[in-house]
Parts: sequence; structure tokens; C-alpha cells
Amino acid sequence: MFEQLSAVPGDPILQLIEMYRQDTNPQKIDVGVGVFKNAEGETPVMRAVSIAEQQLHDTQATKAYVGIAGDADFNAAMRALVFADSVDYARVQALQTPGGSGALRVCAEMLYEVMPDSTVWMSDPTWGNHRPIFEAAGFTVKHYPYFDPATRMVDEARMLAALNELGQGDIVLLHGCCHNPTGSDLSFAAWDRVAEIASQRGFLPFIDLAYQGFGDGLDADLYGIRQLAKHVDDMIVTSSCSKNFGLYRDRVGCALVLAKNAAAATVVKGRLAIAARVSYSMPPDHGGAIVGMILNDATLREQWEDELTEMRNRILSLRQQLADRMRDITGTPKWDFIARHRGMFSLLSLDKSQTDKLIHDYSIYIVNGGRINIAGLRDEAQINRFADALAEVTK
Ligand SMILES: Cc1ncc(COP(=O)(O)O)c(C=O)c1O
Repeated sequence: MFEQLSAVPGDPILQLIEMYRQDTNPQKIDVGVGVFKNAEGETPVMRAVSIAEQQLHDTQATKAYVGIAGDADFNAAMRALVFADSVDYARVQALQTPGGSGALRVCAEMLYEVMPDSTVWMSDPTWGNHRPIFEAAGFTVKHYPYFDPATRMVDEARMLAALNELGQGDIVLLHGCCHNPTGSDLSFAAWDRVAEIASQRGFLPFIDLAYQGFGDGLDADLYGIRQLAKHVDDMIVTSSCSKNFGLYRDRVGCALVLAKNAAAATVVKGRLAIAARVSYSMPPDHGGAIVGMILNDATLREQWEDELTEMRNRILSLRQQLADRMRDITGTPKWDFIARHRGMFSLLSLDKSQTDKLIHDYSIYIVNGGRINIAGLRDEAQINRFADALAEVTK
């Protein structure tokens, strides 16, 4: 039977990783892969994580099942990290999940059970897994206007006008901060409008938060989510700890539901638990336990926040250096948007011949469309090399 199946196409990012690995050019640069890298080109275990892991190792007495909703301390800490003082916590329920992807999938499954005729609206463009996840749950997916390739910023007027046409029965997926793949986020004023429009039109905001702390700070990055939380009765947030705790492979995420009242939030959590039960049953414990320990311990938390600040500052500084260098080489402010983008990614809006040239002529490994992971640039030498090549292929 299986011999009759046709192969599915390989993942383009995995192909890029393989090409990079085989390239013998000592000056090769990888801006394709979406993980944080330090100035040595490494993605180390965070120190706060190592300390918490040691403590867990020394104190954990059992590996017995925890439960479908995962670690209660983790869930409570995630609720506070995301909502701070923007809502009454009785209206919020949280469920630990295997990564942000697991949270997206269980929320999509739960929503399809209760509103199968809804359309899920996503930014154009959005993270490559958003559409498949919601389509796998059964939803029809459409896009609202978002990125303007000419300015490489958000076309807020067009986006807000599109949201103003939506209503009950629509689900609007928004990136909490550090938009992937564009790097271009909404202004605070635009978030204010999104919150007003959501409460007037009655669509369900669904916020995917994968980079809290990578933009302007743990609280500044959550401006939009907290504004929405103050305005709407119902909202979903899926949060990933892969990037901001560097726990990629340990699969740590959280599905958070805001409902009109405590009873409704509890009912939704029960439905999420059913979606989890028929899929992976319960989340892996290790990473969630580590995050729970870090967030609930003052010393570990301070250590983690310091490290996260270091990571953020590295990204911001690389952005500024690259933008400055592009200005010097081209003599125009055309690339200033790189310094205005937030998070690891910037979408440079390059065509295939330009990205092919970067890969084959310069050993610069970059994904189609020209999304770069700015943290892939190690140091000033790599920034300069990248800038020279970019200026050359876009002349
Ligand atoms: C926008 C966005 N959402 C969700 C995720 C999910 O991350 P994970 O499942 O690894 O926690 C990612 C990871 O790249 C992402 O970029």
C-alpha cells in the first residue's frame, strides 16, 4: 500500500539548512533558520534554564502523569505574564500545550467544534504554519491586507478598513508582537483601533504570541493584547516559550482563553482539554516545569529577564547597524525600515533571482521572499558582508 504514495515536497527551510551545512565557504552566512543566535552563532541553553533544570533534577520525586491541563503553577504564571493587570483573572483559563503550535492546534480544534462556519482571517503574509493548522481543524481561511511591500511596513489603513467589514462569526488571527515573517508590527494607535473595532463588530480576536520580550520588552510587546483584553468579552491567546526561554525542543506553550465570565472560561477550558485528550493527551512536563519555576522564583526570574534583555538588545543593535550600513552604501533611507522592524525577522521583499544570487554567488542562505533572521548575523564583519551583497543584488 505505502509504495503507491507520492512523496510530499521537502521543507524549503530544511533544504536551506542542508545547503548551508554543505557549503565550504568560510564566509557563509545563515539568515534563514528561525532561531535566536548569539554573537558566536550559537543558540545556547539560557543560564536561568540550566539552574532551574538542576533544581528540578535534585527535587523531582516522580514522573507520574500531571494531567491534561499541565502544570498549574506554569499556567498561573503564564496568565500573569500575558495579561498582567489588564483583566480579572477569574475570566481567564490557561492550558499548557506542546509549544505554541500545540496551543494553536487545540484552540483551532475547540473553535471548530463551536463555530464551524466561521472564517479565520490572517495577515497577508503570515507564518507558514498558520493556514495549515486552521485548515487541518476544518476552517476556511482568508487573508486581510497587512504588509505593504513598497514601504515594508504595515498598511494600517487598509488593514483596519478590512477588519471593519468583519463581524460575529469571524475569527481574526493577529500576531501579538514581532510579526513573522515581516518584522513589521502595528503601532500602538493601530492596536487601539483594532480593539475598538473588535468590540464594535464582535469578531473573535485570536492572538498568536511567539516572541514576547524580543521586540521592545516583556510589557511593551503586550500592549495590543492587553488593550484588546480591556475591550472584548472573548479572546484567545496562544503563547510560545520556545524563543523567549530558548526551550525550542522541549515544547512549551500555553493556550489562554478570556471569556465574559468565570463560568464561561471554565467551560472553554474543558473543551480545550477534550481537544488535547484526543490528540497528544497531555503536554510534556519538563519544559513547562522549568518555565513555571523561573517565573515563580524572584532570583531565577531576574536572571531570565536579564538574559532576555541581552538577547533583545543584540537584535536591536544588529538592526540599527544593518540599517546604518545600508544607508552608507546606498546613500538612501530606503532600508531604514530594518531598524523599525521588531523581533528576529525582517521581510526584505526580494524576488527569486535576488535570493538565488545571494545563495549561489555570496553563500548567504536566505528563504524565498527574502525573510531574514537578523540574529543570524554574527558580528560587524558579517553585517557588512551581508549589506554589501544585499546592495549589490538590489541595485
Ligand atoms: C508566529 C509563530 N507562531 C507560533 C510559533 C510556534 O512555535 P513553537 O510551536 O515552536 O512553540 C512560531 C514558531 O516559529 C511562530 O513563528
